[in-house]
Amino acid sequence: MNFNRRQQMQLALLKSGKEISYGDLDAFPLSVEELKNTSETSPWFVSAIKHGQNANLFRIRVDDCDYALKVAKKRSASKHIDGKLSFFNEVQRRCEIQRMKEQNQRALTNVVETIYVSINHGIILSPWIEAVPRRALSDEQLKSILYAVAELEQMGLFGWDYRQDNIIFDQAKAWLFDFGYLYRFEPLNEFNSNGLKEPVFHSIERFETCFYFNHLLRIEKSQGHSAALAAFGREKQIAYNVYLGKLAWLQHHAAIPVVIEFVRELLTAWEKAFSSQGLLEELYVLESYRSLSLDLQQEVDAEQCSSDSIAKANKLIELSKEHYDFLKMNNALMFGDERLSPSKLLRKYQYQKRLAIRFQDTPQAVVTFE
Ligand SMILES: Nc1ncnc2c1ncn2[C@@H]1O[C@H](COP(=O)(O)OP(=O)(O)OP(=O)(O)O)[C@@H](O)[C@H]1O
Ligand SMILES: [Mg+2]
Repeated sequence: MNFNRRQQMQLALLKSGKEISYGDLDAFPLSVEELKNTSETSPWFVSAIKHGQNANLFRIRVDDCDYALKVAKKRSASKHIDGKLSFFNEVQRRCEIQRMKEQNQRALTNVVETIYVSINHGIILSPWIEAVPRRALSDEQLKSILYAVAELEQMGLFGWDYRQDNIIFDQAKAWLFDFGYLYRFEPLNEFNSNGLKEPVFHSIERFETCFYFNHLLRIEKSQGHSAALAAFGREKQIAYNVYLGKLAWLQHHAAIPVVIEFVRELLTAWEKAFSSQGLLEELYVLESYRSLSLDLQQEVDAEQCSSDSIAKANKLIELSKEHYDFLKMNNALMFGDERLSPSKLLRKYQYQKRLAIRFQDTPQAVVTFE
């Protein structure tokens, strides 16, 4: 199998058995062995959130304080290498993030603290964040998450997996805590952690693709198209302000021209969309197509689908039928889709819909028990 440089380095480090850790448990009432062996019968156990693939997540309570305890599984059930490496990757990122937080106490305030993390013990201990029931996302919540993902990007950390499961909104703001797919990159010289070859992937696109367009699709279903379009416009306006800051930062730090130009063009396209309802509608078509097609492809590849995947396939079928020429003209068809005729593109999404139906019962959902 061919591994990229990061994967090779991670595999070599993992094989070496070298400890990677941050923090200590000197002042914590439980020992590392007690934490590692946490189960439903432990006195500190509150609940378990089993995701199945790489780790078990426990909510524990000690001296009236609640914590999130992630315990690595002996064997990862992930099929792909990045999935298998995700716990290891998270341990590395947790250590780096804590050091960044130590250096600048005003940085990364949307990222959960790590009390203790150790690759050799296979545990990650953090404070428990109490989520508020989420209905509509307020402007404050949107601002908080968009600034958070852009800040991580600016600090050289590119997150690929800003799914709903991986963001907690409390009363005041958004929290990030799952860093299985957060990779190092050079923001002044690269678009993302894959370098310069795929500019389509950037931090706000990742949030939109993994999270926000799923949310908009649900608004379309429950409140109709105008409500979804309004919610899109609201988010885009906040994204615009965040990326104005990103552009200024890239310029100030002398990023390479192609990286600066990409952000400038993005801002120009978004700005244009704010000038009329018709142009906002056009951007909505383009970005819906981009995000839903990327997200559905990822779910089908991972064989992990839900009713949302079927809704995405239906929307993509509708977009391919009604907007093929417009999508093609605006270079929205990517990764080989640009070579498909209208009927072939339609068939692609009809096929993905059948796959989504087939994979929607794959056991992967969260199982919680109090
Ligand atoms: N600090 C925390 N406070 C509250 N809830 C948390 C916290 N950390 C994790 N959770 C909950 O536990 C769930 C699983 O945690 P996390 O996303 O870190 O693991 P995972 O997705 O199972 O990891 P992986 O995909 O690497 O196997 C989250 O979706 C969230 O609901
Ligand atoms: Mg997760």
